[in-house]
Amino acid sequence: MKIFIIGGTSGIGLATAIQYLEAGHRVGICGRDIQKVKLNKDYPLLQLYQLDVYDKDALNKAITDFAGDVLDIMIYSAGNYSDSSLNKLSYEDSTNMLRVNIAGAVNALEVTRDIMYRQQRGHIAIIASVSGLLDYPKATIYGKTKRALIQIADAYRRALSDFGINITVIAPGYVNSDKLRELNDHDLSKKPFVVGCEYAATKIIEGIEKNKEIVIFPSRMKYLIRLLSCLPKSLIGFVMYKKAKWSQKK
Ligand SMILES: NC(=O)c1ccc[n+]([C@@H]2O[C@H](COP(=O)([O-])OP(=O)(O)OC[C@H]3O[C@@H](n4cnc5c(N)ncnc54)[C@H](OP(=O)(O)O)[C@@H]3O)[C@@H](O)[C@H]2O)c1
Repeated sequence: MKIFIIGGTSGIGLATAIQYLEAGHRVGICGRDIQKVKLNKDYPLLQLYQLDVYDKDALNKAITDFAGDVLDIMIYSAGNYSDSSLNKLSYEDSTNMLRVNIAGAVNALEVTRDIMYRQQRGHIAIIASVSGLLDYPKATIYGKTKRALIQIADAYRRALSDFGINITVIAPGYVNSDKLRELNDHDLSKKPFVVGCEYAATKIIEGIEKNKEIVIFPSRMKYLIRLLSCLPKSLIGFVMYKKAKWSQKK
């Protein structure tokens, strides 16, 4: 198969790329900094593209170059998150989240749709977050962008299903990536149910294979989110605020 992973230069995206490569598939990955990927020589079926997802033309050029006439799977793992709780968010953080988590994702959906329309089949996976599953007032901008992303993916799912194109939304809980560790001063002890990037990659690949509409992991986080969803919105907001304060860096 041919798989293109947007935001595949690190973390969950890179782990997913490696699992597909190990299984013998052709994989294209992109990000703003491809120098940090040290895999080229190990995997001749890997192609790297340096670009910003906000640049739709660059994205189109890269995916078209990689795919030719066939693209089996596109995974959008690009994402921007920062310590957005408790009023610490800068203007730059907010605009970056909107650009990468929403505008970049729409660019990716549009470009991929054009290619998959021609072949009348294909699968798109969008990495959102469990934080996008909860609806409550005063949620973080990150949570709001991921919630919007889930809604956008759902609208595309409806529009593309007649053309044989499927969409899976991935909603991970905490995943032990370099980025998450950096943001938390390398201390994830206050993050519940943390899983590794390899585990996340396996769940993503499984979800795509089973053509699931949504994949939420790990299970304990899924049940916790289900439980929280039953509460009144104001109470969810209170619980989330307390949790943010408790896990605040000293
Ligand atoms: N880790 C978690 O706990 C967790 C939980 C839930 C959801 N998620 C979501 O999972 C996805 C991956 O997260 P991660 O933890 O693996 O973080 P990560 O290692 O920082 O991965 C993010 C990827 O996005 C790329 N990227 C960011 N901005 C970009 C831009 N403007 N243009 C092109 N590529 C860009 C990065 O590449 P470059 O730096 O090379 O541009 C990188 O490859 C994100 O969408 C995140 O929101 C993560």
